[in-house]
Amino acid sequence: MLFEKISEIYFSPSSTTKEITNKIASNFEGTYEIYDLLNYEKDKEPRRFGDDELVVVGMPVFAGRIPKIAREKLQRFKSDGTPTIAFVNIGNADVGDALLELTDLLKDNGFNVIGAAIFVSQHSIFTNVAKGRPDEKDLEKIKEFADKCGENLDSTADIEVPGNKPYKEYKVVPFKAGCDEMLCTFCYDCVPACPQGAIPDDDPVVTDVDKCDGCSACIYICPEDARSFVNEGFDEAAAAFAEKFSQRKEPEFFF
Ligand SMILES: Cc1cc2nc3c(=O)[nH]c(=O)nc-3n(C[C@H](O)[C@H](O)[C@H](O)COP(=O)(O)O)c2cc1C
Ligand code: SF4
Ligand code: SF4
Repeated sequence: MLFEKISEIYFSPSSTTKEITNKIASNFEGTYEIYDLLNYEKDKEPRRFGDDELVVVGMPVFAGRIPKIAREKLQRFKSDGTPTIAFVNIGNADVGDALLELTDLLKDNGFNVIGAAIFVSQHSIFTNVAKGRPDEKDLEKIKEFADKCGENLDSTADIEVPGNKPYKEYKVVPFKAGCDEMLCTFCYDCVPACPQGAIPDDDPVVTDVDKCDGCSACIYICPEDARSFVNEGFDEAAAAFAEKFSQRKEPEFFF
């Protein structure tokens, strides 16, 4: 089926959510539009979507919720019954209430959610967990999910997904991104990449730890590997987390 527009809306600090959103959208034909919520105020304005379009929305899970700043940005998108594919992307730990929160928000804003999923990718903080995912097996599952969504485009069923209300309290992780001054070449790429405005534009080796929520965007964008989580106890926490969540989780679909 050919769509007037296929819009991809994602928030993806370490780029795996973006990769999965792209993969799902590429299963459909039409003109693609990208809404990258990491820095979208400087990009395109949000808009109201029509019922002749398709929307794919992907969000990472932060402490069992969708990231607060992404939620605030997504709230501004409205729709008149647009068929919408929604997924959250976990780091092989817990999904919490994130998928329920995402589908509730979309439905409240007029989107018709025709398929929902939980996918699994490399953990953006503890990178030894689900390392290298999405892998070949995940890509096959993503394709399978997109195919099923394609068969479900006309559905108006109220999809049930896991999660509870009230949603979990917001919890900010204790890890903050720091910078190794010896490695930084002052390219300033990390400054606009930070969704929290935590990296001053006149001094990129500094992080405002009160603003940083540990999203990891600056770490992934830095071409010199100058930025990392530098907190005391990080390595021990990473080892304990890797042991706790060593068992591979598989994607789940909801129709
Ligand atoms: C602040 C923060 C909190 C996170 N909380 C969770 C969580 O509750 N459960 C989980 O499975 N993964 C969690 N993760 C991992 C990410 O959800 C996961 O790695 C996701 O795939 C990242 O997507 P991205 O590559 O698009 O940034 C967290 C990551 C960050 C940065
Ligand atoms: S992206 Fe890396 S190298 Fe560039 S300014 Fe930021 S910390 Fe320095
Ligand atoms: S400084 Fe903190 S909030 Fe900003 S991009 Fe880096 S990890 Fe994310």
